[in-house]
Amino acid sequence: MAPLSTATRVLARSARSPLSASVNSVSPVANTSSRLAAVAATPSPFSTSAARAEGGSAAAFKSPFRGTSKGDSPPNFGDYMSKKSGSTNALYGYFMVGAMGALSAAGAKSTIQEFLVNMSASADVLAMAKVEVDLNTIPEGKNVIIKWRGKPVFIRHRTEGEIAEANAVNIQSLRDPQADADRVKKPEWLVMLGVCTHLGCVPIGEAGDYGGWFCPCHGSHYDISGRIRKGPAPLNLEIPTYDFPDEENLVIG
Ligand code: FES
Repeated sequence: MAPLSTATRVLARSARSPLSASVNSVSPVANTSSRLAAVAATPSPFSTSAARAEGGSAAAFKSPFRGTSKGDSPPNFGDYMSKKSGSTNALYGYFMVGAMGALSAAGAKSTIQEFLVNMSASADVLAMAKVEVDLNTIPEGKNVIIKWRGKPVFIRHRTEGEIAEANAVNIQSLRDPQADADRVKKPEWLVMLGVCTHLGCVPIGEAGDYGGWFCPCHGSHYDISGRIRKGPAPLNLEIPTYDFPDEENLVIG
């Protein structure tokens, strides 16, 4: 048998192939388009339309806005509202509001309490707020200076003669009129702040023209009751808060 020509072999191979007809009768462009169409027609597991087509929950969704237009009454959200009774929902709301309110109140209380504790005086400062003095340690006719709240305090155990001298002064002649009885709780004990009322120097005891205190800064003279008698100071020496808890002790502050 004579060998087949090339054209004859091609024709014979085409007759055996299942795609021979399309391959031979359709152009390459048309063949590609038909394949893409076939792929597109195949449902994808990730396709939204496929899920809807299968009748899933998305297909059952019914929008409350469907069929509405501007100017219509508000849509019905009844499907999305709680199916529980109104009292149950209110109870839950009250519980949440109450719980949040209690937590907030506890936090606010804690914050304010911490703030006040930090702002209040420390134990050592409170200890210095009051000073107790044993009066038995101060002999008659002597001065003692103690420190109270950072300031000097003069304590004078006055004699009978000094008390009489203090009461003999004409009050009207004083720059800062004040009776001696208004400056002491017990006549024999004179307690004053040791701060000059002029510019704050500490006067010297048992000095000056009036037998009391003398401020060397600018020459102010105080008498045996601590009243200003001469010099630039405008006021008498200040009397601090003090008390006698018993006969033998003095508490300043
Ligand atoms: S400070 Fe005492 S006289 Fe000026």
